[in-house]
Amino acid sequence: MNHKSSLSLFPGVKFKLLALFLTTTALIPALSGAQDRGYDPGMLENGQYLFQKNCASCHGQAAEGTVKNWQQRGEDGKLPPPPLNGTAHTWHHPIKGLAHTIRNGTLSIGGNMPPWKDKLSNDEIFSIIIWLTSLWPDEIYQAWLQRNNS
Ligand code: HEC
Repeated sequence: MNHKSSLSLFPGVKFKLLALFLTTTALIPALSGAQDRGYDPGMLENGQYLFQKNCASCHGQAAEGTVKNWQQRGEDGKLPPPPLNGTAHTWHHPIKGLAHTIRNGTLSIGGNMPPWKDKLSNDEIFSIIIWLTSLWPDEIYQAWLQRNNS
């Protein structure tokens, strides 16, 4: 059975594909339209671009993660990449700790994340972190700010 006839055999399928396409494209502006918290929009845009280019393969295009159970160690005994969109515990770490993890990665401490300090500047890493926090709901963002200040 070729592709075309399967579509006409199941007319619902065509509609579902269209609906999926529309939902996905509708999500894209929502994602790039990160929460406005007074950060420079150009910096947020750059952060998103750098994240999608360098980090999305492991952490997901929208930082939603790429594995179902990010808390469960893999067969190598190492943790998988967690989501960074506010649904995991990234907000527990003040900005310095996040920058440290991104700069140095976790390979040297037995993890699976490569270091970025030779590929990304501190400013670029900062833009990525701020873009990530722009995806977080307000209460998570506020809790993170408090950790940064204490
Ligand atoms: C090859 C896969 C891979 C790539 C690419 C990658 N990471 Fe990771 N990342 C991981 C893994 C795995 C962890 C979990 C920590 C560990 O290794 O034990 C992690 C953890 C993190 C954490 C800590 C999260 C937390 O909640 O403690 C941050 C922040 C992070 N990554 C940001 C980034 C950023 C930003 C980039 C791109 C510049 C990136 N990662 C690219 C695999 C990756």
